Amino acid sequence: MKDNNLILEISDVGYRAGEKTILNHVSMNVSPGEFRLITGPSGCGKSTLLKIIASLLSPTHGRILFKGKDIATLSPEAYRQQVSWCVQTPSLFGDTVYDNLIFPWQIRHKNPEPEAFIADLERFGLSPDTLTKSVSELSGGEKQRVSLMRYLQFLPDVLLLDEVTSALDERNKQNVNDIIHRYAKEHNVAVLWVTHDADEIKHADEVLLLQPQPGEGQETYHG
Ligand SMILES: Nc1ncnc2c1ncn2[C@@H]1O[C@H](COP(=O)(O)OP(=O)(O)OP(=O)(O)O)[C@@H](O)[C@H]1O
Ligand SMILES: [Mg+2]
Repeated sequence: MKDNNLILEISDVGYRAGEKTILNHVSMNVSPGEFRLITGPSGCGKSTLLKIIASLLSPTHGRILFKGKDIATLSPEAYRQQVSWCVQTPSLFGDTVYDNLIFPWQIRHKNPEPEAFIADLERFGLSPDTLTKSVSELSGGEKQRVSLMRYLQFLPDVLLLDEVTSALDERNKQNVNDIIHRYAKEHNVAVLWVTHDADEIKHADEVLLLQPQPGEGQETYHG
């Protein structure tokens, strides 16, 4: 029976680059608010899969439906406001952290509340004076958190997170994990979280384990 409540339906997705098969037979259904973990050895195609779901790459096989519509037929701009993709090595722009946080507001022609930025910084374990810091002064872990904050200014329906805590120490990793779990639950945001971290994997309800190709395709197991 068709489940009309699904936010993403990933059906038999494959990706080949030239002669090389990177992904094969990936299928997964995601409901609003669901927290999914994607793992597997380095080079097995995790980032490629997220890029395909973010509509930055077209699959060479299969299709992806977002709210029942093939993402290939949707406007990339509208889709990317609803499905946000956050990478391991974030690219910050402009001069300061403020320039980055204000950006999602500018593209929506809205005025931000600077106090909210300060509260967000504190929640992510960053001091208020981070707001005016130059992005070139930030550590890798600080950049990761500012980048995540930028994506969380306006909550999407789906968050695609690619190793977003890889540069963080244990305490900050746990904090970011808690924040994302809370946001997902409170605002019904579906999260697809790519990680190598065994602790993060332990806490997931369901894990998609990608196998290196050539292989028999991917398997899903319940944690
Ligand atoms: N455009 C491309 N052309 C050819 N090969 C590619 C292309 N993009 C990725 N690959 C290869 O596809 C494989 C999967 O890459 P991907 O970045 O998705 O892996 P990953 O699972 O995210 O790895 P890691 O855990 O190291 O981040 C790698 O072998 C990579 O070299
Ligand atoms: Mg990767």
